[in-house]
Amino acid sequence: MLTAPRQHIRHRLFAAGLLGIFIVSGPVISLLYAQDYPSDLVRGKAVYERHCQNCHGPTGRGDGPVAASLKVPPANFQRFQSFLKSDEELLRTIEHGVVFSPMHAWRGQLTDGEMQDVVAYIRRLSEQAR
Ligand code: HEC
Repeated sequence: MLTAPRQHIRHRLFAAGLLGIFIVSGPVISLLYAQDYPSDLVRGKAVYERHCQNCHGPTGRGDGPVAASLKVPPANFQRFQSFLKSDEELLRTIEHGVVFSPMHAWRGQLTDGEMQDVVAYIRRLSEQAR
């Protein structure tokens, strides 16, 4: 006879706990979605604007202010060719650069994390074009 009410209380506690989790996580989740970009894209955007935008342009079309003075035009990330490349391919290019082109290697200047974040941001730029 005693076990039934106890179980009942346990269930209530459980329900209250669940409710608590929902109440606490609700604002956290909405905060996350309120941001335009998840954090890796925020960091990638900062890296891009600082180091890449002058050549590759604000929207990744390869039309930054420095582009006109370059013999080899900067890659346009909105082209299908770039879109088709895997993250690893883009990452490798950023890491090692392109021979005989103004695109030098960024290894040593950017951390692995920064290079990965900037790839995520380039991806976003190329998706936005579609
Ligand atoms: C001085 C100008 C310049 C700067 C600064 C620059 N790039 Fe480039 N980038 C180029 C050029 C030029 C190419 C094209 C090389 C080629 O096609 O031979 C290129 C190509 C690339 C490619 C290859 C794209 C593809 O489709 O294969 C990636 C990825 C890239 N750049 C990323 C970056 C990132 C990330 C940064 C900043 C950290 C950056 N670039 C900074 C000039 C620049």
